[in-house]
Amino acid sequence: MNILIIGSGGREHALGWKISQSEKVEQLFFAPGNAGTSTVGTNLNVGVSDFAKIKQAVLGNQIDLMLVGPEVPLVEGLHDYFAADSELSHVKVVGPKKAGAELEGSKDFAKAFMARHHIPTAKYLTVTQDNLDEGLAFLKTMESPFVLKADGLAAGKGVLIIDSIIEAASSLREMLGGQFGAASRKVVIEEFLSGVEASVFVITDGKDYKILPEAKDYKRIGEGDTGLNTGGMGAISPVPFADAAFMEKVEKRIIQPTVNGLQKEGIEYNGFIFFGLINVNNEPYVIEYNVRMGDPETEAVMLRIKSDFVDLLEGAATGTLGGKTIEIDNRTAVTVMLVSGGYPGSYQKGKVITGTEKVEDSIVFHAGTKTDGRKVLSDGGRVIAVSSYGSNMNEALATSYKNAAKIEFEGKYYRKDLGFDL
Ligand code: AMP
Ligand code: GLY
Repeated sequence: MNILIIGSGGREHALGWKISQSEKVEQLFFAPGNAGTSTVGTNLNVGVSDFAKIKQAVLGNQIDLMLVGPEVPLVEGLHDYFAADSELSHVKVVGPKKAGAELEGSKDFAKAFMARHHIPTAKYLTVTQDNLDEGLAFLKTMESPFVLKADGLAAGKGVLIIDSIIEAASSLREMLGGQFGAASRKVVIEEFLSGVEASVFVITDGKDYKILPEAKDYKRIGEGDTGLNTGGMGAISPVPFADAAFMEKVEKRIIQPTVNGLQKEGIEYNGFIFFGLINVNNEPYVIEYNVRMGDPETEAVMLRIKSDFVDLLEGAATGTLGGKTIEIDNRTAVTVMLVSGGYPGSYQKGKVITGTEKVEDSIVFHAGTKTDGRKVLSDGGRVIAVSSYGSNMNEALATSYKNAAKIEFEGKYYRKDLGFDL
């Protein structure tokens, strides 16, 4: 098969790394990819939301299967565009259509879906300008801190957690007034849940599903989980508290009702479901759904999948996942993200990256890089992910840290305390 991966981050490099190991792959392409993906496939100069150019690339390169990495093109309807076009409808697509992508594209949709299917999640109320008074009254019934979420996609910035009720009320007004553009014309007010978070992933064809290795993501920029939220500073898989008993609760109370709920509502779904969970006294609750793999979780999770990943992707795209098996590597896998100085605030790009050739016993995934002649330059906040195996978490982390120190670019920063809470 010829396979096209949509996206340009560490997630897409890790997916491509795994896919390129399959005997089923003839040629692998990325749209647009980065400096790292060009070492496992061919980069195409095509943006993730440029459907017409994606079509040209698919036809020109005789693509058989397209895997969509990020959420934006899914929420914009890339899969629907393929299904509706007779020249493209034969292409196997991994990634839900617009209707299923609403699980991530609209927090209000996700919360109402969970309520319909009795899936454990925080109490909530959806507010617009029309029921602002009801929203303010609801806030008064809640305890601090107050959780406000923009309904639509906001590049990971649309969740505010606020201690004071006065500030929460004024933030609610600002959000509805367009703080996050159209994404916050609707706001979900949520009960705050306290616990440790974990990311659980399934691949599904809408009927059957396979559970992938779970992971813990480190979102804050600073050590000890302090400072601003980032796209993710590293990940660890497996997650010790996600033991068999916990995962059984997750499967029975969350995964099965979600997949069955989609089916009952007539929502076709071919792709990944990412359950952002929080463990409250050993009981799992859903914080959010994503309709794609996590980044940086994928840079750890891919190391733990032993099965032919293309076989699973094909199963998900064609409704034949029930006949497939998934084999998991028991070792621990971790990833440490090297970021640009200043991130997640303002930071510089275009810094020369050196030393990756000195890396031993780790796998280097590029997150935000580009090539410039023979040089590799930083091209984003998150720059390089260093992934390693170990017989336990500390061993795997030690390997990643040893190699993270060898990679150089001006302003490099990474967290050295991953796993501190496990
Ligand atoms: P989200 O974009 O929905 O994943 O939210 C971003 C982050 O905000 C999550 O990873 C949590 O750390 C935090 N968060 C979101 N909702 C809640 C909640 N109801 N209670 C506690 N923390 C939350
Ligand atoms: N690592 C969290 C995310 O991909 O949204």
